[in-house]
Amino acid sequence: MPFYKIIEQAIHAREHLFHSTDTNAFRLFNAAGDNLEGLIIDYYNGFVLLQLYDSSLYAAYPQISHYCTKILAALHFPVNGILLKDRSKVNDPQKIAQIRKSILVDGNLPPDNFIISQNNILAHVDLIGGQNTGVFLDMRMVRQKMMKYYMQGGRLLNLFCYTGLFAVHALKNGIQYAVNVDISQTVLNRAKQNYLLNDIQHDSRDFVKLDCMQYLKKMVKQNAQFDCVIFDPPTFSRNKKKNFSVKTHYKDYLSLIEKVAQGGYVLTTINSVSISVRDYRSLHPQYWKLEFLEHEPEDFPYKSAPYLKAGLWKLP
Ligand SMILES: C[S@@+](CC[C@H](N)C(=O)[O-])C[C@H]1O[C@@H](n2cnc3c(N)ncnc32)[C@H](O)[C@@H]1O
Repeated sequence: MPFYKIIEQAIHAREHLFHSTDTNAFRLFNAAGDNLEGLIIDYYNGFVLLQLYDSSLYAAYPQISHYCTKILAALHFPVNGILLKDRSKVNDPQKIAQIRKSILVDGNLPPDNFIISQNNILAHVDLIGGQNTGVFLDMRMVRQKMMKYYMQGGRLLNLFCYTGLFAVHALKNGIQYAVNVDISQTVLNRAKQNYLLNDIQHDSRDFVKLDCMQYLKKMVKQNAQFDCVIFDPPTFSRNKKKNFSVKTHYKDYLSLIEKVAQGGYVLTTINSVSISVRDYRSLHPQYWKLEFLEHEPEDFPYKSAPYLKAGLWKLP
């Protein structure tokens, strides 16, 4: 099928998402799941972000950008600018920041303090610098499913919090108190900005810069208890000497979480196609009761198996 048709088909399949009243950022094209390996196209409140994971597609980006403009204009959906991010493999870590910086392909750059909405909460998004933008678009359905559990109020522990959006969403939907933990001060500052943006009061104790394992050990010692814990770690990360790997550390984390969430709920995730649903489930103790298991949403179609496993567990 020609490029144009492939992209048109993908965008038309998402037409209804443009009419959502609570979300204005979602995926328009999901690589192999939409029949073109290496190409990702996301829509962020009027701006399009193209991401190329395969350098052989590079020569085609002006054409891809032109097709996006044409297809979206025909549907009367606004496009203020189109940006391109190179996601191809980088061997030299010194060069990664420069290579991952988006370039403007068409129209205008997003304004400073650019904001999107996901599940009725607002989020600052950076479409230019860095690898990730500040919001994970694939978490939309998971956040929506979590809503009814937040309605019961209580205390939330948001581990590996990144820009704090699980906490913001929970606080806007019933949770009374949340603490956010991440090893990066940069992302914690962004989380605070997202609190402000959503009119949520906070103080410095709500944001903790620490390795999550250390934090949990501290909470266990203090006999702290939470009604809900979000455990959404990266598949692998290296941060100073604090490495995290799903394969090595998942169960250790779960046994600590169990001690601080007695009788509560725990959302656990794995973002990797190499860990099957069965393996994901088997990482959890048998006496944890699975409330729901969610995969990536409909705008992230996949060819073989889902990469996202996000389960909410009720603890005894
Ligand atoms: C996949 S993101 C989490 C996404 C987040 N739950 C959300 O929905 O927006 C992973 C985060 O883990 C943090 N991180 C990685 N290793 C860590 C560690 N050992 N302790 C605390 N945070 C860590 C990173 O700084 C990053 O912000």
